[in-house]
Amino acid sequence: MAFGRIPRFSPSFSPVEAAISLRWLAQGALDGSADTAKVEEWESEFARYIGAQHAVMVPSARFGFYLLLKSLGVGEGDEVIVPALTYFAIPAMVPLLGARPVFADVGLRTHVLDPDAFRAAITPRTKAVVPTHLFGTPCDMDAIREIAHEHDIQVIEDCAQSTGARSRGQRVGHLGDHAYYTFGLTKNITTLSGAMVTTDDANVAHSIRSEIAAGGPTSRRKLAKEAATGLAMWAATHPALYWATVHPAVVLGNKLGEDPIHDRFGEAERRYDEIPGYYYSSSKARAVQAAVGLHQLGRIDDLNGARIRNGRHLDGALAHVPGLTTPEYPPGSEPIYMSFVVHHPRRNDLMEALRSRGVDTTVGYMGAFGDHPLFQEYAADCPNAARAFDELLHLPVHPNLSPTDRDHLVEAVRAACLSLS
Ligand SMILES: Cc1ncc(COP(=O)(O)O)c(C=O)c1O
Repeated sequence: MAFGRIPRFSPSFSPVEAAISLRWLAQGALDGSADTAKVEEWESEFARYIGAQHAVMVPSARFGFYLLLKSLGVGEGDEVIVPALTYFAIPAMVPLLGARPVFADVGLRTHVLDPDAFRAAITPRTKAVVPTHLFGTPCDMDAIREIAHEHDIQVIEDCAQSTGARSRGQRVGHLGDHAYYTFGLTKNITTLSGAMVTTDDANVAHSIRSEIAAGGPTSRRKLAKEAATGLAMWAATHPALYWATVHPAVVLGNKLGEDPIHDRFGEAERRYDEIPGYYYSSSKARAVQAAVGLHQLGRIDDLNGARIRNGRHLDGALAHVPGLTTPEYPPGSEPIYMSFVVHHPRRNDLMEALRSRGVDTTVGYMGAFGDHPLFQEYAADCPNAARAFDELLHLPVHPNLSPTDRDHLVEAVRAACLSLS
């Protein structure tokens, strides 16, 4: 990036995806058809990429997860084990079916479900477990699957941050029984909006497909808005513009006690009384989403490859910086570095020190839910999740980071940490 200014993220959406969006939005508006065939093509290409038998496009990962639980017959009095460091919307789905989310701790430096904590959380009522491959880091799936099979527990992988990552050479999403993914504009690949469920179980796929088919199509207006936002994000994080526009706005916003990017893209943590009606009323994917998804699938290995190169460089270069703790990876894990998450006891001071050196960072959107007002009745002792939540910081690791940016980032982190030690 020019002028030593590095954005916290940059989208995979580019002018090419914008042109594809325009073409398919225009065609859909003209003939109003062709959605089904294109969506089926995208679903089957995605299933092939993951190695699963079935893929069903859904409007969001949380709704896909809800439909998965429903199709598996999870209901009153059942328990679903979820990691304590996760996205609020996942545990929030479980009580909607009369079941209980049971929080299990994560590894302090891996940030993903600890197999021993999973084992300790099992009761005779446990029906499913959700290994979340958080920050692009696959869980120890051999250990988790073995424990789950001993106790007849369904394994639902959360691949929302890890599409394309592998564990022991196998892609995540085909290491458990079922999986879900999400493709918003800030994810490693995007379909403007929307998500996917994969499974080898024909009955589960059929049940979810019927629920989606009963709803209406995704709003074309909303998709056009997402395409415009994607293009604006691409422009705003482009080296020629970022230093002069977004970076000064972020610095100023933070001086005033706000984070403009977090405010724009964040979602308030909440519980639900019922599944939001718009999931059903606009559940069916449009051809434009499928067309963008197919193009992105052609780029995914390059996009993830650039993340992996950047992430491995940071693993090595930041391993011995005073005060800084770098991530660890579970056995067999081949992360895609969706985020590069370090810990520092003075995390907020580190953020500030990095921003003054031109590097924008974020604390991200995950919550620690072992002891959280939103899920008070399900409180559980999860000290690693709580500590990670207090100390974690996402460093830029996106595919558009150039080797020069990487060097600047490493030097900035070293200098910032030394200034705080
Ligand atoms: C780990 C994880 N799981 C689930 C979700 C929910 O995805 P969606 O917004 O599509 O429901 C997210 C969203 O970012 C996530 O990061």
